[in-house]
Amino acid sequence: MASRALAVIVLAAGMGTRMKSTLPKVMHPLAGRPMIRHLMDTVHSLSPDRVVVVVGPDMDSVGAAVAPVPTVVQTQRLGTGHAVAQARAALGDFDGDVIVLYGDTPLITAETLQRLLAERRGPRDPAVVVLGFKPDKASEYGRLVVGAEGLKAIVEYRDATREQRENPLCNSGVMALDGRRMWSLIDRIDPTTNSKGEYYLTDAVALARADGCCCSFVEGEQIELLGVNSRGEQAIAEAVIQAKLRDAAMEGGATLIDPASVWFSWDTKIGQDVVIWPHVVFGPGVTIGNRVEIRGFCHFEGCSIADGATLGPYARLRPGAKIGASAHIGNFVEIKAATVETGAKVNHLTYIGDARVGAGANVGAGTITCNYDGFSKSFTDIGAGAFIGSNSALVAPVKIGDGAIVGAGSVVTREVAPGALAVARGVQADIPGWADNFRDQQRAKKG
Ligand code: UD1
Ligand code: CA
Repeated sequence: MASRALAVIVLAAGMGTRMKSTLPKVMHPLAGRPMIRHLMDTVHSLSPDRVVVVVGPDMDSVGAAVAPVPTVVQTQRLGTGHAVAQARAALGDFDGDVIVLYGDTPLITAETLQRLLAERRGPRDPAVVVLGFKPDKASEYGRLVVGAEGLKAIVEYRDATREQRENPLCNSGVMALDGRRMWSLIDRIDPTTNSKGEYYLTDAVALARADGCCCSFVEGEQIELLGVNSRGEQAIAEAVIQAKLRDAAMEGGATLIDPASVWFSWDTKIGQDVVIWPHVVFGPGVTIGNRVEIRGFCHFEGCSIADGATLGPYARLRPGAKIGASAHIGNFVEIKAATVETGAKVNHLTYIGDARVGAGANVGAGTITCNYDGFSKSFTDIGAGAFIGSNSALVAPVKIGDGAIVGAGSVVTREVAPGALAVARGVQADIPGWADNFRDQQRAKKG
């Protein structure tokens, strides 16, 4: 049976009122990307033949996030059974196996879905296989009613008896169905039989049993089946993903001195023998080479760092920062859309934006590239081996030649030739004895 085709339907029509947000629930981020993107990666790892995402009205952002996977719009939210029915036209005459997932359950793993699918394709040939779990707090989940011959029904919490509510085995919502039999079950789901008046997908189990079909369940881990319905649950899901990303970084050969205070993005790439001190945050799009040292309190996004570089403490790299091998980026330095070449040093209190810092150049404390005039951005080019004295302002567009020296406190507005000295600051005036005279006069006034 292993050659049967697979389709996946992802239900994501709920706005998620408990998130109290204008953003659709599944667009809220985990490790720097929408939670539905995490789920879609897991879905794609199963190599399904078809995938459809059911969204609500005004959820174009979800459509864009899952593209090129097609979406269908459920205009009225009439229940999970109704949501699945909306995917029918998109699946056409598909008659393989169908997995139904919730967009707000992003932590489920491919291994668990494979187990679900193996049961669906197993000798019992069940019409419906449900992924059950035993949460610490079973609270309002639907309950699996199991008999000797397998799964008999799912009762929703609000429709369950006291005895049924004591059953710890809950419905995660994830199901695998036989595509040849499922639409006839979905068609017969009756919204008048439950207290909410909704089309309950869960009723497919009892309907299949009434047809004489077998239904079954497999059990999953509660941590994978966490549904994100609130900001609190979002934070729990974030913690689960971060724990995995920290483990992966350490397994890849990075030292995390205090793993719990390092926050990764889903796509952070880290080489070997990298040392990361406490309190470091990685936004999306960061690539780090080997033997890089990242001291505490750094914040990086959209940047690359080559082998042997040293950063921080308190360094900020913004999108487009490219740090060369063995470069030093020190405390309170911000770098944006700029290349710092091999061995260059930018060690203190500096802003480098829209610029190149040539190999081996030294940028003194307090240097600012003045890249923005309120309308457009301009480029600063600092040559190899140049030395920029402290507290200089480099007014872009401007070029500092290879090996040139800029005197401290300069405001550089013109090109500096290679090997030249540029000093652009007020000339020092010295008046001998002026300070002593001044003090004498003031003291005399006061008597
Ligand atoms: C559902 C299950 C319940 C299970 C629980 C697990 C049913 C009837 N109940 O309950 O047994 O324990 O999930 O979390 O299925 N959705 C739509 N369109 C709709 C309704 C829902 O797309 O019309 C989507 C939601 O966006 C969400 C998912 O389906 O991703 C689940 O919907 P929700 O209303 O949260 O179901 P529960 O009442 O929690
Ligand atoms: Ca729910």
